Amino acid sequence: MGALITGGSGALGSSLRKIFKDAYYPRHEDMDILNPSSVNKAILSYKPKTLIHAAALVGIRECEENKKKAWLTNVEGTQNIVNALKKLNNNCYLVYMSTACVFAGEHNKFYTEEDIPSPKNYYSITKLCGEIVVRQYANACIIRTNFVPKGQWKYPKAFVDRFGTYLFADNVAKGIYDVWKNKAKGIVHIVGDKRMSMHDLALLAGSKNIGKMALDDYQGPPLTVDMSLSTKRWKKYKIR
Ligand SMILES: NC(=O)c1ccc[n+]([C@@H]2O[C@H](COP(=O)([O-])OP(=O)(O)OC[C@H]3O[C@@H](n4cnc5c(N)ncnc54)[C@H](OP(=O)(O)O)[C@@H]3O)[C@@H](O)[C@H]2O)c1
Repeated sequence: MGALITGGSGALGSSLRKIFKDAYYPRHEDMDILNPSSVNKAILSYKPKTLIHAAALVGIRECEENKKKAWLTNVEGTQNIVNALKKLNNNCYLVYMSTACVFAGEHNKFYTEEDIPSPKNYYSITKLCGEIVVRQYANACIIRTNFVPKGQWKYPKAFVDRFGTYLFADNVAKGIYDVWKNKAKGIVHIVGDKRMSMHDLALLAGSKNIGKMALDDYQGPPLTVDMSLSTKRWKKYKIR
């Protein structure tokens, strides 16, 4: 298969490992996307036929408080990968993981691949700029999605008034596999077939005693309120 996957130690990376079993998952220290020569070394020596770029700085608060690191990781890190693939020049298929949060998040809008992004916080701005970087490379797919790992919610409470067409990380990994099989290009939304609140998602993920919170209780960077996506070019997935 010859796939190289960044972000292998992350939430999505753990799910990708179950599906792309033979892929090469360089550790952060073996391929630091902030460092062009580290990226060149890994890519030019492994010579991947597919590269799934799932490494990023993902915390909304962390990105807001460390804008420089967020920019370097999510935008310039992606540029370092695109530059290395251009050098490799083997028409490697690139999959870039983007997010439903590139949209403004109006209620019940169900954004499709054709809608215009309008990010609300710095994380989402950097992910959208990463998309722009990826557009320099022809053989590429930009996947927008929204997921959590199955299991205990990592916070004591979950929002009752933030919504999305969420999936579990394993479901997204399967969606990436389908995209990879078809070598889809351009933008693809990998979405669940049901809109639900984050609190409902937490219960479905397996949390029994999860508290409720509302956006009024929240203090922090602006959040996308309704992350629901739809798709004009792909199937929808059942959250399971
Ligand atoms: N989770 C979501 O809700 C969500 C939704 C939509 C899209 N996405 C996108 O999906 C992708 C995966 O998200 P995730 O939730 O799995 O993230 P995650 O659990 O936070 O994992 C991030 C990964 O990126 C790696 N990484 C960070 N900086 C790096 C660097 N400089 N060089 C190399 N590796 C680096 C981390 O490695 P170390 O831990 O070793 O530093 C880790 O493996 C991201 O692109 C994210 O933007 C996430």
